[in-house]
Amino acid sequence: MLVKKIAVIGAGYVGITTAACFANMGHSVTLTDIDQTKLDQLTKGMCPIVEEGLLDLLFVGVESNRLFFTSSNKEAVSDADFIFLCLPTPQGKDGTADTSFIRSVSKEIGPFLRADATVVTKSTVPVGSAAVIEETLGRSDVSVVSNPEFLREGSAIYDFLHPDRIVIGSKSVHASKRVCDLYEPLAARTIITDPSSAETIKYAANAYLATKISFINAVAAVCEGVGADVLDVIEGMGSDSRIGKEFLNPGPGWGGSCFPKDTKALVKIAEIAGYDFALLRGVVEVNQQQHQRIVEKVLSFRPQLTGVFRVCALGLTFKAGTDDRRDSPAISIIQSLMVKGIEVHAYDPTVSILDNADDLSGIVLHGSSLDAAKNSDVVLLLTEWPEFTALDPALIGSKMRTRSVVDARNILDATQWRSAGFVHIGVGR
Ligand code: UGA
Repeated sequence: MLVKKIAVIGAGYVGITTAACFANMGHSVTLTDIDQTKLDQLTKGMCPIVEEGLLDLLFVGVESNRLFFTSSNKEAVSDADFIFLCLPTPQGKDGTADTSFIRSVSKEIGPFLRADATVVTKSTVPVGSAAVIEETLGRSDVSVVSNPEFLREGSAIYDFLHPDRIVIGSKSVHASKRVCDLYEPLAARTIITDPSSAETIKYAANAYLATKISFINAVAAVCEGVGADVLDVIEGMGSDSRIGKEFLNPGPGWGGSCFPKDTKALVKIAEIAGYDFALLRGVVEVNQQQHQRIVEKVLSFRPQLTGVFRVCALGLTFKAGTDDRRDSPAISIIQSLMVKGIEVHAYDPTVSILDNADDLSGIVLHGSSLDAAKNSDVVLLLTEWPEFTALDPALIGSKMRTRSVVDARNILDATQWRSAGFVHIGVGR
């Protein structure tokens, strides 16, 4: 394999993972970011995010002199064969993705690129961005390729090294081939297409996954109404090989840094293209309703008499295996409960009791599930951390005022909790 020089711009989840994995594959990688604190952490051998296996991979990369960090984009790109843009594309005011970081970095690096360099977008960018980047770079001797990522937080390293497919979109056959060669050791299926199709694939994939979850959450609501068990329904419908069981777990609704912004962005992209994506608008609405449905389950335990009603919330991140709370359904549900005057005591394995981030304001943080459960009226399980399945309901119950549990992830053994005297409510059961 030919060792390539790669610059990765943006040390977020995608950028750090991309840099660590390419270095692990033997390439020489320089990771840049404007946030000096992140770079200092990385230089000291720390990782700014919780991601399984990432710390080890970073260590190996640095020790083997294949992974470098700098705050200078100019320094990173000037001798790079490939420049991967792993920059944020937050939701803009009108729902469209805000591409200002992509545009300003393209403008900045344009003059410093080597002739024949390839600029690759990994960020989820609006359809048509490859053309915008090309124009902003102002370099006819540099090619632009769209190579969307499909990494799940929590298993990003595994996903990078074992992809279901690699999507490469470019106007240049030569550039597509070069990016394709970069991934050759992974022996994955490669889909080569034009930039707009590559960009659309990313949005369509995330929108479809979000649709599956909203669909099953809606079916769960029907199950509750008709007295069916959604887990049996999933077993039955998912056994059809055309449907499958994956991504059909009902829960508190989907969240995270991608689905909420990407679904809204696709609705907007469609609108601009002259199509009303009513189906996807429905998917987003069902998700918002799902938060409220969980809130109502908790409220069903609220005593008629007024007085302090205390909820023990287990889990704050948007899913297990990550420390990410961006657009976490757990936070949105807890905030709705607090607005109703409910006291929320919470525990999450990734959140320190000293954390004073804005999204945690008003929540009383604890260092263990047992501490959070003390004197509470309801346990509300919001994130599927494996340690919660090992909880002893009798012990938890002995600390509580009344024994009620809302399992928004359907991971607790209902029979066991009921035997310990709990009134147990799941989702769709
Ligand atoms: C998602 C996609 O899965 C990745 O393929 C994509 O690369 C990434 O977005 C991105 O665009 O960068 P991620 O945000 O890490 O990855 O999260 P997921 O594992 O997809 O979960 C999203 C949400 O759906 C979470 O809130 C999760 O709890 C929820 N979910 C997932 C369910 O409620 N039920 C399920 O069956 C699966």
